[in-house]
Amino acid sequence: MIVVTAATGHLGRLVVTSLLDRGVPANEIVAAVRNPAKAADLGVEVREADYGKPETLAAAFAGADDVLLISSNEPGQRFTQHRNAVDAAKAAGVRFIAYTSVLRADTTTLGLAVDHKATEEYITASGIPHSFLRNGWYLENYTENFAPALEHGALLGSAKDGLIAAAARADYAAAAAAVLADDRNRDEVYELVGDTPFTMSALAAELGAQSGKEIAYRDLPKEDYRAALIAAGLPEGYAELLADSDVGIANGELADDRTHLVDLIGRPTTSLADAVGVALKG
Ligand SMILES: NC(=O)c1ccc[n+]([C@@H]2O[C@H](COP(=O)([O-])OP(=O)(O)OC[C@H]3O[C@@H](n4cnc5c(N)ncnc54)[C@H](OP(=O)(O)O)[C@@H]3O)[C@@H](O)[C@H]2O)c1
Repeated sequence: MIVVTAATGHLGRLVVTSLLDRGVPANEIVAAVRNPAKAADLGVEVREADYGKPETLAAAFAGADDVLLISSNEPGQRFTQHRNAVDAAKAAGVRFIAYTSVLRADTTTLGLAVDHKATEEYITASGIPHSFLRNGWYLENYTENFAPALEHGALLGSAKDGLIAAAARADYAAAAAAVLADDRNRDEVYELVGDTPFTMSALAAELGAQSGKEIAYRDLPKEDYRAALIAAGLPEGYAELLADSDVGIANGELADDRTHLVDLIGRPTTSLADAVGVALKG
């Protein structure tokens, strides 16, 4: 039995769909979620699993062979939450755990990677056989936030001309499903990136071409970008993480030329042009 945590999230939903698409029977998949009412439409067994409530995790992982631990979206609390999940997986005797991490988690300078690195180390120390699915940037980080750029004619960032090897959530989900569904895909580390990296200027050009509007990329010093994000309504901590990530992009932290993602999914990753097109059709 395969247990997918955080299955009500964007990625988790796509993993469940990808597992079903690969032919994994629905009765061998469990969606382990914080809020079971949100998972009623998934078409698989649903169990409560709140990273902050260890007792729910023990019950959620009972009888599991394989667990996909999808990282939580609560920075600051994430490591404690993930540690609870790993402890529960170990107590339940799961034979394999896959964890959605971040590109080059062991060496990257990205601030958001701190929790991922600590979680990877904890999983390694647990002794549970594992794969780290080190996801690069989601294309959706951009495509779900085009409204201000279309309104003001400018994309903002601090990424300079750094390359971004982003892929769609559906690509990362397909890779996770490939690892969970096939014992032959159980390398310890997968560095997962899109196969056609782009710069912020290229993103602005693509958005401009497809929308028929003039869109420029305006590169800002980190502090100015952070302030712009806060002015746009983002919480300070989140704005800092995003601005820090852009500095990381400028330094090459979200580019990589390994082909692990394409190899796992057996097709090219979603192109920037396709992702922009889908977002504009909306
Ligand atoms: N690589 C990237 O570019 C990138 C970008 C954004 C995020 N991420 C990471 O990738 C993860 C998955 O992405 P996503 O797009 O699916 O994010 P998402 O849509 O925000 O989903 C996050 C999931 O985490 C669950 N969750 C949060 N706190 C939890 C808790 N205490 N116990 C159990 N579940 C909890 C949420 O449950 P509810 O449905 O109950 O809220 C939700 O299912 C994120 O959580 C984040 O760590 C990566």
